[in-house]
Amino acid sequence: MEFSINDLKFMKMAIKIAKKGILRTPPNPMVGAVITDGEKILSFGYHKYFGGPHAEIVALKKLPKTNKKLNLYVNLEPCVHYGKTGPCADEIIKSPIKNVFISTKDPNPLVFGKGIEKLKKSGINVFVGLCEEEAVYLNRVFFYNQIFKLPYIILKWASSLDGYIADSSFQSKWITSQNSRKIGKKLREEVDAVLVGVNTVLRDNPNLDRIKENPPRKEIYKIILDPEGKTPLNYNLFKKGKVLWILKEGIKKKVAENIQVLNFPIENGVFPLKEILKKLKTMEINSILVEGGGKTSSLFLKENLVQEVALFFSPKIFGGGIKNISGLDLNLKSAIKIENYKLRKIDEDFYLRGLICSLELLKQLAK
Ligand SMILES: NC(=O)c1ccc[n+]([C@@H]2O[C@H](COP(=O)([O-])OP(=O)(O)OC[C@H]3O[C@@H](n4cnc5c(N)ncnc54)[C@H](OP(=O)(O)O)[C@@H]3O)[C@@H](O)[C@H]2O)c1
Repeated sequence: MEFSINDLKFMKMAIKIAKKGILRTPPNPMVGAVITDGEKILSFGYHKYFGGPHAEIVALKKLPKTNKKLNLYVNLEPCVHYGKTGPCADEIIKSPIKNVFISTKDPNPLVFGKGIEKLKKSGINVFVGLCEEEAVYLNRVFFYNQIFKLPYIILKWASSLDGYIADSSFQSKWITSQNSRKIGKKLREEVDAVLVGVNTVLRDNPNLDRIKENPPRKEIYKIILDPEGKTPLNYNLFKKGKVLWILKEGIKKKVAENIQVLNFPIENGVFPLKEILKKLKTMEINSILVEGGGKTSSLFLKENLVQEVALFFSPKIFGGGIKNISGLDLNLKSAIKIENYKLRKIDEDFYLRGLICSLELLKQLAK
């Protein structure tokens, strides 16, 4: 199907206004809706926060009375089920809308294809695929969660140019500039949890808090992989906030109310990370920022559990110390490839943010 310039323009606007829901809609997706008479925009709306009215309903409520046949542009398939709100497809069918343009199907099994089917059955023309890639990118966390039933993982590190996250003296607490660190810390606002290995806790004693908690988003979980339970209870990250302390089976700890202990078996010397992630998903943890150190990052990458990277490089060469990644031993063919990346310069540092999980894969799996 060929879309017109106007179609493209209106869908791009739907995606642009969908972004206003950023950080407030999870675990729901960001959705925007634009209603036109083919030439002019008559109404628009977006999903503002989790549990709030859906974008289509916001736009329909603001629509002036008209006898014209209208077009709706929406970046995700309208729902057909009763969740926190009623089905959008029913409201569209009752309205003067005759053509619905949708970027992608909704990968949620409760909706997947059913919204499109219902609209078509009522005589509405439905066109799917307009700005598909942009729409999948916008809601990549939601798509990944729905398709794989696992939390979406963003891996972050700050390293020297030759890939060291700490020098051999361990005196290198801040490798990158203050502004890079600020951006790094802000990443915590995008996710439900931050995770580190125990060596990082023992070396750096971080608090792992967000710069600012941001209601109505849930308070961040701070997760430590600490098989032997080595972290002293007076360490900073235990002092406030919600902590998940992951210990090996059989290790018991008496902890304060804000700390929850989860025990997992050790298999071949390591935790079964995928099982841990499945458990975390049942606790409504849909996205996690893995902040190192090197061993922890390597194990996540080794098990193909990382979907996105946020990497800071300082133009320094250490020539030794703690490596950002080790033990993967991939070759040119099997190397992990970063796609859809953006490279920014922050002060003297380089910041690379890109995807490991291919958008193409998410698009195909959601078809
Ligand atoms: N520049 C940066 O971006 C950055 C970020 C974070 C940390 N760092 C630096 O990195 C250094 C620490 O890194 P590191 O590589 O030594 O250690 P790490 O990754 O912080 O911690 C590794 C330890 O955590 C536990 N662990 C992690 N993943 C596990 C798994 N899947 N299964 C079982 N146990 C697991 C193990 O504990 P056990 O040993 O008890 O088995 C493992 O030895 C510190 O110097 C810190 O300052 C730098």
